[in-house]
Amino acid sequence: MTDAPRGLLGGLTNYGDAGFSRYLRRSFASSMGYSRQMLDKPIVGICYAAGGFNNCHRDVPALIEAVKRGVLAAGALPIDFPTISLGEVFLSPTSLKYRNLMSMDVEEMIRAQPMDSVVLIGGCDKTVPAQLMGAASADLPAIQLVTGPMSTGRHRGERLGACTDCRRFWARYRADEIDAAEIDAVEQKLASTAGTCAVMGTASTMAAIAEALGMMPAGAAAVPAVDAQRLRIAEETGRIAVALIDAPRRPSEIMTAPAIENALRILLAIGGSTNAILHLTAIAGRLGHPIDLRHLNHLSDTTPVLVNLKPTGDLYMEDLAAAGGIPAVMREIRDLLHLDCMTITGETIGERIDAWDPWVDTKAIRPRTDPVDPEGGLVALFGNLAPRGAILKRSAADARLFERQARCVVFDSLDDLAQRIDDPDLDVTADDALILRNAGPCSPSSMPEAGYIPIPRKLAQAGVKDMIRISDARMSGTAFGTVVLHVSPDAASGGMLALVRSGDTIELSVANRRLELLVDPPELEQRRAALPAPAAPAVRGHDWLHAQFITQADQGCDFTFLQRQGVTQPA
Ligand code: FES
Repeated sequence: MTDAPRGLLGGLTNYGDAGFSRYLRRSFASSMGYSRQMLDKPIVGICYAAGGFNNCHRDVPALIEAVKRGVLAAGALPIDFPTISLGEVFLSPTSLKYRNLMSMDVEEMIRAQPMDSVVLIGGCDKTVPAQLMGAASADLPAIQLVTGPMSTGRHRGERLGACTDCRRFWARYRADEIDAAEIDAVEQKLASTAGTCAVMGTASTMAAIAEALGMMPAGAAAVPAVDAQRLRIAEETGRIAVALIDAPRRPSEIMTAPAIENALRILLAIGGSTNAILHLTAIAGRLGHPIDLRHLNHLSDTTPVLVNLKPTGDLYMEDLAAAGGIPAVMREIRDLLHLDCMTITGETIGERIDAWDPWVDTKAIRPRTDPVDPEGGLVALFGNLAPRGAILKRSAADARLFERQARCVVFDSLDDLAQRIDDPDLDVTADDALILRNAGPCSPSSMPEAGYIPIPRKLAQAGVKDMIRISDARMSGTAFGTVVLHVSPDAASGGMLALVRSGDTIELSVANRRLELLVDPPELEQRRAALPAPAAPAVRGHDWLHAQFITQADQGCDFTFLQRQGVTQPA
């Protein structure tokens, strides 16, 4: 404990008279109906990201109520406050563009308002990363609570869950395997409860990562949104947040370099989303712990995929929860983890694992002796096409495409892709590589989840299910295919991807972690000299901030001035 003022009297508004500041703050807080007895208690802030444009956070009001119950029972005053909320499918051009902005909102509102610890309530893809990034920078004791995954629906006897099944049915519709009436019916059933996407997409992956980092109670990541256990976890989270006031464990003490390596191991073992690499890199960057993509390859080579969830496997998050959750996954790879990492509940990762129910459903969480895949789900590729790296989710890809040279079919932008991909006259075969550029962090489209380039309709109708696809874009964690993403540097910043032409040959070798453009260097220099001048940058507002300070994918697409090492001035 320190002697610094706590509760309502912390961080006073400055009027040049501290006594007046205290008197005025108490007076205005009293207007909300609090007694003086309540206002004298320490405060737990409840930072939540909910809104009408975020379906995944529909049950946040109930979670806030449960957290408050836990805080009050433990003797503190809970005060909730909203921040920006990012609903994945409601933001243009893409939610990633606003993740850093949300993280600044979270950081500054934690820092500026009087609270002694904070509960972070998020769930949808970008909200948990933004909250962890903001909390890492503010470094007030903080604990994460996620909204939890959706439960599955049914269509004609088949289980459905957003959003791997969204893509699967859409691909069948594009291939004329189902009609418009059936795709309309499926549309109503894919996302049928509150909560986040039901598979091992980005939201589920980030929940697992938050737990693996030690920022949540054990077992909290996978419990469905609509399960009563989710509310009990919220209540427990409130109690833990009060305990953190007198025994502060700050984000910088929880999310250490070894804890981040634990999170990478879990990301690999669960067959998690490619997006999580970006987000974990950004979170770690706030604490001065860079993630080296070559080290990711080492971890990937030595970490099996154990979790049998879509899009890598068959099942859904509710099955993972019932099977034993993230602690059961951690137990299976305990020899690969840093067991002495401290968690937000005051126990180490090793103690958590030891205390967890030993029963496990091996259909959802496979034993080391019978993994879904003996190697990790994600690999980083390097070469002249991606000198700073690119990412492939090999566990969700067709291994028959991993070692080959392919002719390039290039799309210059998302608009170009939309206009030509289904053109019956497009010169493309199933053996080609589809290349999409100007979809990276420095492009006007701000790195959307467009890397899952659709199979050209004429090939889809002929039964083609997968092709090599390469871009500087991202891919939804719920998607699948031989899709190389996050090519760095991106085309808009002058990366090699800008120089590729249709008819060129690329060489992909997953075994050698290589991605090469097989064009002679003098020819590439000529092409570089002929590149058009970049578009005029934005001149105001958040667009200006984004254009000036966004980093490449290998640095997590954070703003340079938010990274731990300090402020970088615009060029
Ligand atoms: Fe929110 Fe998928 S849209 S988690």
